[in-house]
Amino acid sequence: MTVIQAQLGEWDNLNHLLVCEKTGEACIVDPFSGEHWLAACKKNDWNLKSALLTHSHWDHTRGVQTLFDTGVEIWLHQDEEKRGWAGPDNGRFTHSALSTTTFKVGELIFEIHCTPGHSPGHITIIGNGVIISGDCLFLGRCGRTDLFGGDLEEMHQSLVYLKAVLQGLPSDWLVLPGHQYSVSDGSIPTFLSVSELLNKNEALIAAGNKEEFYALEFLAFDDSLAEKARRKKARN
Ligand SMILES: [Fe+2]
Repeated sequence: MTVIQAQLGEWDNLNHLLVCEKTGEACIVDPFSGEHWLAACKKNDWNLKSALLTHSHWDHTRGVQTLFDTGVEIWLHQDEEKRGWAGPDNGRFTHSALSTTTFKVGELIFEIHCTPGHSPGHITIIGNGVIISGDCLFLGRCGRTDLFGGDLEEMHQSLVYLKAVLQGLPSDWLVLPGHQYSVSDGSIPTFLSVSELLNKNEALIAAGNKEEFYALEFLAFDDSLAEKARRKKARN
C-alpha cells in the first residue's frame, strides 16, 4: 500500500490518500480539497474511486462536492445524520457504536470502527499498517466533545474500546490523525507508532479512570463553536 499524507488548509487538517499498489485504486480520507486529490491521482495514474469521511465536520468534507460531481463514491456513517448531514454521499455505514465492518480499496481491506463522541457517527479506519483516527484521537489528546452531536460519555467509551484495539495491533503500525496538533513534549508530529501513542496520549492514559478522563481540560472549549452548539442543541 502507498499512503500519502498532506496538510491542507488553515486549520491543520491532515488528509490521507490510500492506494492499492496492485490495482491502482485509491481512496481519499477526509478530503479538504477535491481538486488537489483528483490532480494527485491523475498525475500518478491512480483511479480515485472512493472517499471515506471519518465524520461530517466541514473541515473534513470541504472537498466532497467536487469529488461527488466527478463520480467518486462518498462513504460515511449514517449516524452523522444526527448532526444534520444530508449528503452528498453514495453509502452510509450502519453498524453500531464500538463495532466494526469492512471497506475495500482495490485488494486492500480496512476495518471501519464506529467510535462516536466527537461526532455521533465518527469512524476510525484500521488496516494495512495504519490507523486513521480523524478527530476521535489526535496524537497527544482526543477530539473535543462539546460540538453539536458530540457526547462526553460516548467519547470515553470509544477511547476505552480503541485503546484495547490498539493494544492488540502490531506496535509499529502508524496512527494518522485528522489534525496536526502538538503533543505534550512540544513537538508537532504528523504520525506516531502505536506504542508511542499508547505511551504519550493523555486521553488514552486517562481513559482507564473515568473521573480522571472527565477532568481533562481539552474535552470542551469556551469558544464561538461551543456557543453555536449550545444554541443548536436548545433549538432541537
Ligand atoms: Fe471534527
